[in-house]
Amino acid sequence: MTTIEPVFPGEHAPGLADDAVVLPWLARMRDEHPVWRDAFGAWHVFRHEDVRTALRDTTTFSSNINRAVGGAATPGMLTQIDPPEHHALRRTVSAAFTPRTVAALETRIREIARELLDRTGERFDLVDALAFPLPVTVISELLGLPASDHARFRAWTDALFDVQIADPADPDLGARMVEIFTPVGAYFHDQVRARADAPGEDLISALVAARVDGRALTEVEAANFSLSLLLAGHITTTALLGSIVRTLDGQPGLWSRLRAEPGLIPALIEEVLRLRPPFAQVGRMTTRASVLAGTEIPADAVVTLWVLSANRDPRAHTHPDRVDLDRGVRGPDQLSFGHGIHFCLGAPLARLEARIAVEELLGRFPRLAVERDPGEPHDGLRPFDRIAYGVRRLPVRRRPAEGSAEVAQPDVEPGHRGAQQRDDDAVARELPERDGVAHACGDADGDDVRARRDGRAVAAEVGAEGERPPEGLAGGGVGHLATRPSTMGAIVAA
Ligand code: HEM
Repeated sequence: MTTIEPVFPGEHAPGLADDAVVLPWLARMRDEHPVWRDAFGAWHVFRHEDVRTALRDTTTFSSNINRAVGGAATPGMLTQIDPPEHHALRRTVSAAFTPRTVAALETRIREIARELLDRTGERFDLVDALAFPLPVTVISELLGLPASDHARFRAWTDALFDVQIADPADPDLGARMVEIFTPVGAYFHDQVRARADAPGEDLISALVAARVDGRALTEVEAANFSLSLLLAGHITTTALLGSIVRTLDGQPGLWSRLRAEPGLIPALIEEVLRLRPPFAQVGRMTTRASVLAGTEIPADAVVTLWVLSANRDPRAHTHPDRVDLDRGVRGPDQLSFGHGIHFCLGAPLARLEARIAVEELLGRFPRLAVERDPGEPHDGLRPFDRIAYGVRRLPVRRRPAEGSAEVAQPDVEPGHRGAQQRDDDAVARELPERDGVAHACGDADGDDVRARRDGRAVAAEVGAEGERPPEGLAGGGVGHLATRPSTMGAIVAA
């Protein structure tokens, strides 16, 4: 690989947990270093046009991030597989995710959402009550996995993201990833074997029965593909639902407006997707040298494509940090579902789940207020710090509709509100583009302006090479992921 010194020697990309750190950093990088090599030697791409170009160019920007350690793509991991194999593998399940097929799920999804919300009281955790169980139930039913296993799915994803959040330089990281993925792999191998003996109507059975270029998938391929569908099918939507509620909480009047005009719900979902992409980055590896924004990225480089940055690029979007329900961002401008051949297979399902969830929340609650705990790091919301962008905890309280007498009371303790205001000012000072908007990045979502500046140092980027899970183990891609700069491809394909 060509040796190029990092622009800021010793610097790494910040983590995603603190908006007040990461958003100004991204704005600066877009302007000053649109293509940047970090101290681990990984490359980062920040502008919308360049991220989109790289996503489209599958010949130069390979999805097989295992190339970093000289390996082939993990078998069955759709997001890691390049053309020409990609197309045939994707076709094995694509029929299950077309807009028409997905639309037929509306009744069942609404039923699940209602059942879940029936169990809520005045105060509840939105992630526990709805944002996690809704998508996990839907994808589990599609895959044919029992509801009784949901708790263990959550334990796996929590363990996976806890590893990401913990010390990335930890030499035991690879071994811990093996520890996490060994039972996950075993579980999916069992599921595939059971379908081979007694096929059902579910997606795992469809994968077992599928023919790719005339041959059946191996057990490893079918197990890995199933696992990737389970993970991709819920982590992202869970993050999206939490982000939607935070956005509604941070925008005075929006809850009431959407109750009055539910036809605006899809526009809100698109804006939250744009501003808070559940996967902030996608990973690629170059197969040959390439020039983006005037900078040459060498062959065999690990590249992080910053979807979060592209989506907030003023070169692509007017007033990018604003929630603008008239924006109509869709198709190639909206990079949160990726772009090109790996465009998210589950996008119609995710959009449907989000619309139903928001309709049910708006229909049931005059308003929900997020209850932050100022004594806890990140107000106790447990944000993801790597790859995924969103929160894992979201305590909310039912509140009267805006305009009623009770509403005049603050949602948070007065002292905290004061602290938040100071934080807002700090965020505003750091952001280059204010253009008279009430809150620069903050007007996008309440949590942006409330982002805490707790003095936490910019987190180190995942870097050192580490142990990989055993060959063929489901999650091989993720094991590798833990040892390299973040790659969403691996997580989706995890
Ligand atoms: C808000 C929710 C979601 C977001 C933001 C999201 C995001 C993404 C992104 C960015 C990619 C492209 C990865 C890349 O280019 O490396 C992707 C791919 C994929 N997503 Fe989603 N996703 C979501 C929901 C879902 C759901 C519900 C499913 C259902 C199973 C799903 C299944 C997939 C699959 C299978 C791929 C791989 C497609 C391919 O490689 O051809 N996603 N997703």
